[in-house]
Amino acid sequence: MRIDIITVLPELLQSPFDASILKRAIEKGLVEIHFHNLRDFATNNYKQIDDYQFGGGAGMVMMIEPIDKCISGLKSERDYDEIIYMTPDGETLKQGMANELSLKENLIILCGHYKGVDQRVRDQFITREISIGDFVLSGGELAASVLCDAIIRLIPGVLSDETSALTDSFQDNLLAPPIYTRPAEYKGWSVPDILLSGNTAKIEEWREDAAYKRTQERRPDLLSDQ
Ligand code: ADE
Repeated sequence: MRIDIITVLPELLQSPFDASILKRAIEKGLVEIHFHNLRDFATNNYKQIDDYQFGGGAGMVMMIEPIDKCISGLKSERDYDEIIYMTPDGETLKQGMANELSLKENLIILCGHYKGVDQRVRDQFITREISIGDFVLSGGELAASVLCDAIIRLIPGVLSDETSALTDSFQDNLLAPPIYTRPAEYKGWSVPDILLSGNTAKIEEWREDAAYKRTQERRPDLLSDQ
């Protein structure tokens, strides 16, 4: 998979890709990440990429021309499956969407800033608008790194034990069951006996039951969201 990220703040995006699972995925050649600094596509001497909004109002708007130049340049080199715009008014990111996007070959992610982008960018270039939740961040960069993490860990070969992604919360619309590790008893707080029994069938049954109970208690909406 190849992901091209268009941003005004590439330095804000770097570190999530320099550690742990994402770093290893890049090193193994399972994903390529390319950052594009929008300012490199500015057309005037001031390297301007934003301007006042027509009709008045507070806040700057990201201009269409630098974004067009960047996206059109990328599209002339390869086909893209999706051109994604990170925005709080997009479709809310869910596990199913991450699963779907993890199967794609080439993605562009445009990070918004200031008040957002000129609507014509959204109308002409963007194929998908994604929000990571009902809150407003200072820009799309942190949201883009959240999206990339959710997608990349699902690419086959990225996690050493592939089944571990399949047992995550939200796969099957269930939260994950409680988990424990040694010691089996700490300050009188003990681990459920069943997990120490060695009976894998019974343990699996307990986990399914616990996942269901936890989902019912915390996120009943997921159970009716099939
Ligand atoms: N940009 C600002 N806030 C955002 C959000 N919640 N999701 C995606 N992109 C954003």
